[in-house]
Amino acid sequence: MGQEVKFNVNDGVAVITINNPPVNALNAAVRQGLVTAFDDAEANDDVKAIVMFAEGRTFPAGADITEFGKPTVDPWLPDVCNRVEATCKPVVAAVHGTVLGGGFELALAAHYRIADPMTTFGLPEVTLGILPGAGGTQRVPRICGAEAALDLMIAKAPISAAKAVDLGLIDGVSRAHVRDAALDFAHELIGKPNALRPTRERTEGLSDPVGYARAVAAKRQALAGNPLFAPAKIVDCVEAAMLLPFEGGLAFEQAAFEDCLRSDQSAALRHVFFAERKAAKAPEVARAKPRPVEIVGIVGGGTMGSGIAASFLDAGFGVVLVDRDQPMLDTALARIESVFDKAVRKGSITAQMLDERMARLTGDIHYFAVSEADLVIECVIEDMSVKEQVFATLDAVIKPGAILATNTSYLDINTLAAGVAHPENVLGLHFFSPAHVMRLVEVVVGEATEADVVATGFTLAKKLGKIPVRSGVADGFIGNSILAAYRTAADFMLEDGASPYQVDATMRAFGFPMGPYQVLDLAGLDISWARRKRLKSTRDPEMRYIAIGDKMCQKGWLGQKAGRGYYTYADGSRLGVEDPEVLGLIAAERERKGITPRAFGPEEILYRCLSAMVNEGANLVLNKIAQRPSDIDVAMIHGYGFPRWRGGPMKAAELSGLLSLRNQLREFAKEDKFWTPSPLFDEVIKAGHGFDTLNAV
Ligand code: CAA
Repeated sequence: MGQEVKFNVNDGVAVITINNPPVNALNAAVRQGLVTAFDDAEANDDVKAIVMFAEGRTFPAGADITEFGKPTVDPWLPDVCNRVEATCKPVVAAVHGTVLGGGFELALAAHYRIADPMTTFGLPEVTLGILPGAGGTQRVPRICGAEAALDLMIAKAPISAAKAVDLGLIDGVSRAHVRDAALDFAHELIGKPNALRPTRERTEGLSDPVGYARAVAAKRQALAGNPLFAPAKIVDCVEAAMLLPFEGGLAFEQAAFEDCLRSDQSAALRHVFFAERKAAKAPEVARAKPRPVEIVGIVGGGTMGSGIAASFLDAGFGVVLVDRDQPMLDTALARIESVFDKAVRKGSITAQMLDERMARLTGDIHYFAVSEADLVIECVIEDMSVKEQVFATLDAVIKPGAILATNTSYLDINTLAAGVAHPENVLGLHFFSPAHVMRLVEVVVGEATEADVVATGFTLAKKLGKIPVRSGVADGFIGNSILAAYRTAADFMLEDGASPYQVDATMRAFGFPMGPYQVLDLAGLDISWARRKRLKSTRDPEMRYIAIGDKMCQKGWLGQKAGRGYYTYADGSRLGVEDPEVLGLIAAERERKGITPRAFGPEEILYRCLSAMVNEGANLVLNKIAQRPSDIDVAMIHGYGFPRWRGGPMKAAELSGLLSLRNQLREFAKEDKFWTPSPLFDEVIKAGHGFDTLNAV
């Protein structure tokens, strides 16, 4: 037996201990070790009962996800679970931590389960595009029926130990060390008749066939139109648990599991799982210690500043908010309180927690109020001269070693840093609106930024429950650079014959919550107009320029805030209506340029939008603005609504073939040099590997 599974006998009870840090994932060595340990325990006449336990922070948190998609290694987890369940001596699982996926299924294969009261349980496989494939779809409903089983497998949220006891999935919780409690319980079982209680033989959950069938039908109906593949398969498996004998149900589950595992959705979702964790890794994080941060100063209490303040208050920090004058400050403070009010109404925090958060917030109209802050984030308007002025004022009041951050979406951090005494203390922390909700934070590293300042940015993002992505300095960093390329591709099509409504509908059908023109209306067309004006002097004159957005801005059609943009908005409505005058403006633009409009189908619209994103993403990796392609996927999923189950633009491109994409880009490039394929494509294609290899860094 290897080191991953240990076996010892304690007064007639065998303790089988799993030890595979960090999360005791059930990899091949653990599975093999478990089978050997159960064989040994069964063969040992001194052993009358068995306790299964795990060292470290958790009972197994699931199968080893890194093994999926690789050649399978015996024994499979379903066989291990069957082996555990078939043991001729009572088996008690002693569980703690996050008992998830295959780990929960392993516990369910034991005859009894005792849990630490803080344990959480879940079957989150659906988030990886798969289903519980080690008997979970068959054992869980046998204990707690279809409705609870389906909730557990499809609603994704983990449940508490108390809830698991209510559902009958756990036999009890113990405040004593869970292994000791399980040992006591196992001793009590010794010699008792009917001490063996295989879950496959349980029938409580199947006792109401009509209610069971109703729950299955209701879930199936609720899932109609859901683009995900795995949830419907889960419903089929849970239905099979009622209709088929246990072994037949297991075989059904296995086939469904393999279908899911082979799907592009699962490949994409597994990619995102690791990409999110990878994104939090940066060279500076590995080599430097973060600076301590307790008090955060925020300058500018608009939507962005207030949301960022709320985020820091949620995470337990003290916040000093500075705004221009008292009325603006009062509005900002009220805005922050209203965020917490909403949370109280939703039940996510208590009124007492609201008071406690507000007690950590102070407001002021003088910059020196941030003199005690360890970090100050400026969130003023997106104008370089205003930001430079704010930085200069802050530079005079902040304490030595304080970090100066900017929440700019586009502007050059190096220019801002050059204006202060300690450019090494400057970085970008680019939050997304609404900042207390959106999980992406781009940690923008300037030429002079010290490693410990970068490490602080990453640590803070994690403390806020956000997903940090490292970006170098580029106009728009990672996310907005890709957004700009996406919009350029869409604008080209607009001028060539597509309508904004067609483009939006296509991107929504792909899985974005909104199309690019709806987003423009929401954000305000003037923001991208300002960027275009700023970049005018450096624009490549050979590159095609679309003036539709500029013309709309000149007419005051700035989006929702103006009541009209690409859509019109009746008084205060957020639901836009298509606007024939916009189509007229586009038609006039085509005429002015002598363009004969042509038809665009959804396939072409989608292909061009995605290709533009991927090409820009490849250039960002090539130019070392992004560390790896998977960071781009994470940024687009968490900041821009790219459908998670498509894996992000880079993964989606890889799944559909980089060679054909490069070749198609070459064709498009004959129309305009915007489409020139990134040299990164040639690099990875020549090397015979895809983006995945670049994700290994
Ligand atoms: N397999 C392989 N590696 C895993 C893993 C798993 N199931 N779960 C976590 N890890 C790795 C992470 O990648 C991470 O590695 P790095 O340190 O190299 O980045 C490390 O373990 C720690 O994970 P986190 O950073 O996520 O730690 P955390 O404390 O924030 O969260 C956790 C811990 C709640 C267990 C979280 O890791 C998690 O949700 N894991 C996935 C759980 C899951 O989906 N289980 C089902 C697996 S599929 C299955 O079991 C199929 C089946 O039916 C047979």
